[in-house]
Amino acid sequence: MQYSLTTGVPILKQYIADRTSADGIEFSPDAIQITGGSQQGLDIVGRVFLEPGSVVLTEEPTYLGALQAFSFYQAQFVSVKTDENGIIPSDLEYKIKEFNPAFIYLVPNFQNPSGITMSAERRHAVVALAKKYDIPIVDDNPYGELRFYGNPVPSLKVMGGQHVIQLGTFSKIISPGLRIGWIAADKEFIRMCELMKQACDLHSNTFAQYVIYEFAKDGALEAHIEVIKKAYKIRRDLMIDTLAKELKNGTTWSEPEGGLFLWVKLPNGISASELLPKAISAGFAYVPGKHFYSQNPDDTTLRLNFCNATEKNIVEGVKRLAAVVKAAK
Ligand SMILES: Cc1ncc(COP(=O)(O)O)c(C=O)c1O
Repeated sequence: MQYSLTTGVPILKQYIADRTSADGIEFSPDAIQITGGSQQGLDIVGRVFLEPGSVVLTEEPTYLGALQAFSFYQAQFVSVKTDENGIIPSDLEYKIKEFNPAFIYLVPNFQNPSGITMSAERRHAVVALAKKYDIPIVDDNPYGELRFYGNPVPSLKVMGGQHVIQLGTFSKIISPGLRIGWIAADKEFIRMCELMKQACDLHSNTFAQYVIYEFAKDGALEAHIEVIKKAYKIRRDLMIDTLAKELKNGTTWSEPEGGLFLWVKLPNGISASELLPKAISAGFAYVPGKHFYSQNPDDTTLRLNFCNATEKNIVEGVKRLAAVVKAAK
């Protein structure tokens, strides 16, 4: 319970390094900085790379919390055209040349908010561009282990080596309240992160780091991930089935192979943010999609979370969504 090392508790770093190495890249504990969740990882990356006016390229839509973290350093955001396979390489190359970004920010697996996973082909193309123009990729990966269907796609970190800074977290696989995540990057970058982290909060909570290590070390984490994947898959399937049953009016939604979120697009230009007060009056809520755009917000989109509600509430919530959408037409 004394002050501890800024980079993190060594046995937990070793555990993370071994686990990351299983993806197919040799990792040493020196390449890991423990953080207060990956949200702090985003802040540290911002501290290292950004000054007022620096450009960050993002997916469209992108994770709201990253926009908040990087905005603090007065970054300018430029969104790259994105389809169901991830960002589009030709637009990425155009925007790299046009804006000379500080880095490319990606959530490549079961993205928050859209649920999209970047295809292997896109990953190869994006990594090739990052290497060609020597631009770092920030690979924010809280959901990669929550795959319910399909085959894993190779990790950006494995493909991109030192061009990729990967952010990991125990929030979605153990508990967000423990506030423990990590940055995996080359050692020189980790040294800079260590200095930033030291100025910020000296180190992350030692007790929480030991709790995670003790829980995970003998395989309990792997078993736990299987349990939550099974539960989330049932809820995902139920939410999608209920949407298909209740919303036959041109509303569309993503059908992600994992993660926690569905991305819904309303028909006839219905505004998700204008509909929200009606949803709240009807006793349910969602996040209007427009908040997840760094540019060109689409207010007909919204994010649903399927992991946290009971099966009964999922069915009831989707029915109520269908009713307010119908009334809005
Ligand atoms: C893409 C993404 N990055 C980072 C975070 C922050 O997670 P943490 O609890 O590890 O700080 C989240 C949480 O929702 C997220 O979706």
